[in-house]
Amino acid sequence: MLLKITILPGDGIGPEVTDEAVRVLNNVARRFNHELSLDRKEVGGAALLSSNHPLPDDTIHSCLASGAVLLGAVGGPSFDKFPKHLRPESGLLRLRRELGAFANLRPAVCFPALEDCSPLRPEVVRGTDILIVRELLGGIYFGEPRVTQGASGNREALDTMRYTEPEIERIARMAFELARTRRRMVTSVDKANVLDCSRLWRDVVTGVAQDYADIKLGHMYVDSAAMLLVSRPADFDVLLTENMFGDILSDEAGGIVGSLGLLASASIGGTVGLYEPVHGSAPDIAGRGIANPLGAILSAAMLLRYSFKLEREAGSIEAAVSSVLAAGHRMRDLAKPGQTALTTAEMGAKVAEAVVPQMAIH
Ligand code: IPM
Ligand code: MG
Repeated sequence: MLLKITILPGDGIGPEVTDEAVRVLNNVARRFNHELSLDRKEVGGAALLSSNHPLPDDTIHSCLASGAVLLGAVGGPSFDKFPKHLRPESGLLRLRRELGAFANLRPAVCFPALEDCSPLRPEVVRGTDILIVRELLGGIYFGEPRVTQGASGNREALDTMRYTEPEIERIARMAFELARTRRRMVTSVDKANVLDCSRLWRDVVTGVAQDYADIKLGHMYVDSAAMLLVSRPADFDVLLTENMFGDILSDEAGGIVGSLGLLASASIGGTVGLYEPVHGSAPDIAGRGIANPLGAILSAAMLLRYSFKLEREAGSIEAAVSSVLAAGHRMRDLAKPGQTALTTAEMGAKVAEAVVPQMAIH
């Protein structure tokens, strides 16, 4: 199969971790007889520096003409003072919108080998296998108006949280469908005791649930969900949330399973899927070869699964990551005192080596 992928390394540790994901993809292609066609483009701060725009047309065109997009990260302190339409993050938000990627899937899984890497006790984190399904194109991230106005000392700022029924319905359906491939539980997160958006959310999700009698639906306020995630993470299956709650809870889930560096994501539902690690650009460690590439590598697995329907290939990457961790290899974010940590490239090479067609394992 020809796998046409646009690679957007972006900023900070983005380029280092995407290099390792590409290294692993190359091995998968070789071992499963696929052909990779990669188109590297710029996004975020890197694109701002070279072409004064966080999402150049050329990048959008390449993304829309490919089967999937793999992105590293965007953002960095040097861009903090840029006007908002020229911030790296606005390039990413616009890309999500251009691709129509309304569903952001963020799995948070506790690898057996990492039970003692969580800040929580092993018996609490053991068995955690959560799929966060985050609405990605609505809510306060995109609502209008959004403005800061008034004279200095007396300024006011306004953001708008807005949701329509169709926006809620399509993400809810996605969550229920995904729950059917898992433990058949959906926990829908909202703040229905305070927000109108959340009351509508709860109402629409409850309506969609009528079509999924085989799925157990629960509703939870976001504050309570944040608390239960750290006290009983293994109780969750699919966690359905609006855009901003999902942003916050997915970082929390990363902390729970040991490191945000492990978390992968898929943004799907539109014309072309976008895959990126959840961790962000981490400017403080960029360029030092110590960033954890596993989030990017696991994002490449999701890319094969969701955009190319290559389940065996995706599984081979996930199995490779599991076996490398089980063999005791760690990055700095997961190493115990006294344990040597691999470099970004060493970890990428270990995983790439461990990728074997599943047939050979059985
Ligand atoms: C994420 C990030 C982005 C978001 C930022 C970089 C715009 O935090 O993907 O979680 O808030 O969606
Ligand atoms: Mg985030």
